[in-house]
Amino acid sequence: MPTRERMIRFYDRTMRGLNPQRFYENSGFYNIGYWGGGAKSQREASEELVDQLVARILDKGGPMLDVACGLGASTQRLALTFAPDMITGINISDTQIADARIRAPDCTFQVMNATELDFPDNHFDAVICVESAYHFDTRDKFLEEALRVLKPGGSLVMSDILFRTPFNALIEIGHVSAANLVPRIVDYRDRLAAAGLVAIDVTDATSFCLGGFRKNLSRWPSAERRAGRMDLLQSLAAAPICGLLAACIGMVCKSYLLVSARKPS
Ligand SMILES: C[S@@+](CC[C@H](N)C(=O)[O-])C[C@H]1O[C@@H](n2cnc3c(N)ncnc32)[C@H](O)[C@@H]1O
Repeated sequence: MPTRERMIRFYDRTMRGLNPQRFYENSGFYNIGYWGGGAKSQREASEELVDQLVARILDKGGPMLDVACGLGASTQRLALTFAPDMITGINISDTQIADARIRAPDCTFQVMNATELDFPDNHFDAVICVESAYHFDTRDKFLEEALRVLKPGGSLVMSDILFRTPFNALIEIGHVSAANLVPRIVDYRDRLAAAGLVAIDVTDATSFCLGGFRKNLSRWPSAERRAGRMDLLQSLAAAPICGLLAACIGMVCKSYLLVSARKPS
């Protein structure tokens, strides 16, 4: 099966799976989250991640695009700040878009590839992309498209991950395009500048995001048991899996970035 289809199937299954839904408290999120603001649960951390990115958007009045919106949780969160009829969410998966339409019924959703945005030039005041750009084929192509659909002066905000390289398995198993394996933050910033973006800010939020996520994931089975949502056996079975996942994520992911940039006015 081609990489793209496998990636879509992977997310359709895992995001809507029983344990991920429990872990994300049925919020529909599927990201690392931001733990630097005192989040007490994965849902709160994922909401805070969207809020952190929203704070980086300058003009909050006009149309905005949520790229790779997943099950629509980020879109739902955006609707607290932006008028819902101003928000469009896109995802490559029609299954996820169907869920998103239920989660945020007043927003608009379309099945679309982030690297082939079917919108006119100069259309959006803001484009947000939460923890997905490393999957795009390629991230650089998405940056070009984001620049095209943004109005002059419009904001692009993203959270994104730099991976430890060389890690060939990442390309196959993690569905990461080889062209997206940027080694250093300074190289990442250069890619944004090469795409024509200005006012670029790339903040290393690794400890606030990856650090908090890994800690929460490792502790989750015992926290669930204490809360009465897992019995002892379930918690004991889940603990090594969550611990291993947290360790693998630490080995594979190098930096977690909060990014903002603008299209030149
Ligand atoms: C880690 S999930 C993040 C989902 C969501 N942004 C969130 O924070 O909960 C990655 C998402 O990227 C989507 N995706 C991957 N490649 C895509 C592409 N080329 N165009 C649009 N969406 C894509 C996947 O379907 C999946 O929903």
